[in-house]
Amino acid sequence: MIDLHCHILHGLDDGAETAAESLQMAHLFERTGYRMVAATPHMVPGTSWMPPIDRIKTRVTALNQTITDAGIELEIVPGMEIAIDPQIPDLLDDDRLLPLGNASCLLIEPAFQQLPPGWDKVIFAILAKGYSVLLAHPERCVQLAANPGLIDRLIGSGVYLQVNWGSFLGQYGRAVARTARLLAENGKIHCLATDSHRPDGHHPARIRAAAAELGGLIGRENLQRITTDNPLRVLNGEPPQPMTVSGAGTGRTKKRWWRLW
Ligand SMILES: [Fe+2]
Repeated sequence: MIDLHCHILHGLDDGAETAAESLQMAHLFERTGYRMVAATPHMVPGTSWMPPIDRIKTRVTALNQTITDAGIELEIVPGMEIAIDPQIPDLLDDDRLLPLGNASCLLIEPAFQQLPPGWDKVIFAILAKGYSVLLAHPERCVQLAANPGLIDRLIGSGVYLQVNWGSFLGQYGRAVARTARLLAENGKIHCLATDSHRPDGHHPARIRAAAAELGGLIGRENLQRITTDNPLRVLNGEPPQPMTVSGAGTGRTKKRWWRLW
């Protein structure tokens, strides 16, 4: 598997606090079955969380060396989790934002409640500059969770959706778990990621259990697509593919998608 969202680099945000914790997380990723991980420290324009690109790349190089020395089979690539903000187009022009794996897709974090005014213009400005957008954990955004039509319009505009494993595990409450499940049932997930911040928040056994359950819900082919194939496509600068939803299932689940909200 390939993870496109985690906070494994230490000392840059609310993720790993020490180099030892980063190494511990790398070990857990390997045990879970990951072979590649994008390190995505928070980038929140206008705050102290604005890590310079060079610092992220230097930390990634150092961590890869540590991981190799420890005999762990895992590769870290650089990235950022960028909070949606009107400054994003200017920051892009100034080369201060880092796409996932140095390719062409930006991991964009929506607000947890209401999206800020003008957020849609920011998304379109990013797309117009030739980047693609992977929207981090939309199931955790109250405004998006309450507006499935808005999610459909985002996907229709070319935005890709990244859902957290933890949402299926109930880590953020029942409402978020329900939204994640609905997104899965309706084939609206492009990538699954851990968004892990600490070694103690990432249990290989729990992810394997969630994978078994999710595989039963969406099928093994879709699970492979959103955990491995699509993340790799993103890192290669290719568009992730939508999940396949069976004909009968499409009709049945689409009704539920709209009726429940
Ligand atoms: Fe995150």
